[in-house]
Amino acid sequence: MLIKLAVLFSGNGGNLENILEKLHQKTFGENTFEVVLCVCNKKEAYGIQRALKYGLNTKVIEHEKFTSREEFDAELVKTIKESQADLTVLVGFMRILSPVFTQEIKAINLHPSLLPLFKGAHAIQESYESDMKVAGISIHWVNEELDGGKIIAQKAFEKGKLNFEDFEAKIHALEHELLPEAIVQIFENN
Ligand code: GAR
Repeated sequence: MLIKLAVLFSGNGGNLENILEKLHQKTFGENTFEVVLCVCNKKEAYGIQRALKYGLNTKVIEHEKFTSREEFDAELVKTIKESQADLTVLVGFMRILSPVFTQEIKAINLHPSLLPLFKGAHAIQESYESDMKVAGISIHWVNEELDGGKIIAQKAFEKGKLNFEDFEAKIHALEHELLPEAIVQIFENN
């Protein structure tokens, strides 16, 4: 089966590039994956260059140009539906999504903490600074609650004496490992 993916991001796009490298036009078992849509809400985002390396133009939808969250979300929904994506993947898409989006789009989100701890935009910093001995990452279904949907996959590690830079690098390395695996698994289990 051909599985069409939409990928939404806001900045660097490291996870977008990782998906393009590992899943785009690649076959796993019965399924071949294709990224049919890249969407970004920031026109200067570096991820746009990363997508271009794979011949993909990013659709820029700037949230600032909309008068309400719902109007922005409605434009996202329209764009994603037009792409006929089977799954939407949020990788550093730093927008809170309203029910206009969450009730219409089947989406997963990558989050750099062991949810339900450290929700929101500063998870890496907060998890590093906490006195917890372990940290990690989560992939979850998107629902109307910020970083609150059912957890699909997680990976944890011992913080040890890592400095912040190495801690952050460890988080991203785990993300690059786990997210493609989780996407493949979602469709294997269907
Ligand atoms: C990732 O660490 C992702 O988990 C995080 O943004 C980063 C994006 O990196 N997402 C969130 O914090 C969502 N709340 P990237 O642009 O290099 O893929």
